[in-house]
Amino acid sequence: MKRVLIVIGHPYWSRSVANKGIVESLGGLDRNIVFSNIKELYPEGDIDVDAEQKKLLDADVVVFQFPIMWFGAPSLMHKYMEEVFTYGFAYGKGGDNLKGKQFIVSFTAGAPEDAYSATGAEGYTMDEFMPPISALAHYCSMHWAGYVGSYGMMNPSPERCSAHASRLLDKIDSI
Ligand SMILES: Cc1cc2nc3c(=O)[nH]c(=O)nc-3n(C[C@H](O)[C@H](O)[C@H](O)COP(=O)(O)O)c2cc1C
Repeated sequence: MKRVLIVIGHPYWSRSVANKGIVESLGGLDRNIVFSNIKELYPEGDIDVDAEQKKLLDADVVVFQFPIMWFGAPSLMHKYMEEVFTYGFAYGKGGDNLKGKQFIVSFTAGAPEDAYSATGAEGYTMDEFMPPISALAHYCSMHWAGYVGSYGMMNPSPERCSAHASRLLDKIDSI
């Protein structure tokens, strides 16, 4: 069974409904999934870089789970990237530890799906917002396996959260 690491980068975890619901759905399954909830593990912001890099080494599939904030990943997710995806580990000389791993983004968005277009409220498609993160995968020689997203996720029902979790598992199984 593929070893999956889900890194959760939600700055307001205690009041999350959507991401929490998705993670709870996934946690109840008999799957080889390790969850790394950055806000819960490091409430003061002091990320244990060695521990997080070890989790990456042990994974075949890496998933970033987050709510879209200002058209991309929240600052906490970026802080994780900046501190954990280091030179010599994730890229650069000797930094080929992530080579060949699969990489997926799993996001929730507050806006409806049709807002993500040139003429919609967000002004761009979700594909156009992805490169800052898909490029991370490319730069670190990981396989960009794409994203699983759910839109209109303000206070979603448990059913919508578990539907997202199912789609994410389908993607993991298909790669
Ligand atoms: C600071 C902030 C910025 C946000 N920016 C966006 C955005 O750019 N596009 C969008 O669709 N939703 C945006 N949202 C809505 C969140 O994506 C939504 O609340 C979240 O996906 C719900 O998940 P949760 O219940 O786990 O927090 C934003 C929310 C906050 C708090």
